[in-house]
Amino acid sequence: MRLRWFLVIFCMVSSAFAQSIPRLYAGADLKVGAKLIADNQCVACHQRKVGGDGSALYKPTGRINTLGLLRGMVEQCNTELNLGLFPDEVNSIAATLNRDHYRFK
Ligand code: HEC
Repeated sequence: MRLRWFLVIFCMVSSAFAQSIPRLYAGADLKVGAKLIADNQCVACHQRKVGGDGSALYKPTGRINTLGLLRGMVEQCNTELNLGLFPDEVNSIAATLNRDHYRFK
């Protein structure tokens, strides 16, 4: 019984590592995050703002410089733009942005 729990937890932890999800974002789904980013016009709007592929807007050394602030920023966009995202969706988006752009530990 105990061994089974150990295996379950071990698998969860190792798959989180394999997808490079920081512990603060536990439970994030990077595929869901990528889909939500595509579905909510995030990039289209950012491109209008900064041009190129829009990624210049993500500034890891700027104001948003921790995992907590990054997720807070996604939550702020969610609220301001009235996207109606659930907390776990915000979490997945933050994890995806972190993997692709910010790379905070
Ligand atoms: C209607 C336009 C628009 C949409 C849609 C939008 N954003 Fe933004 N976003 C902005 C603007 C403008 C800024 C820059 C704000 C600033 O610097 O004060 C920004 C900034 C950000 C930042 C902070 C960048 C940094 O490093 O400083 C993040 C993260 C972000 N947006 C994520 C998202 C996500 C995720 C979505 C989709 C769920 C989204 N945004 C949708 C306009 C938009």
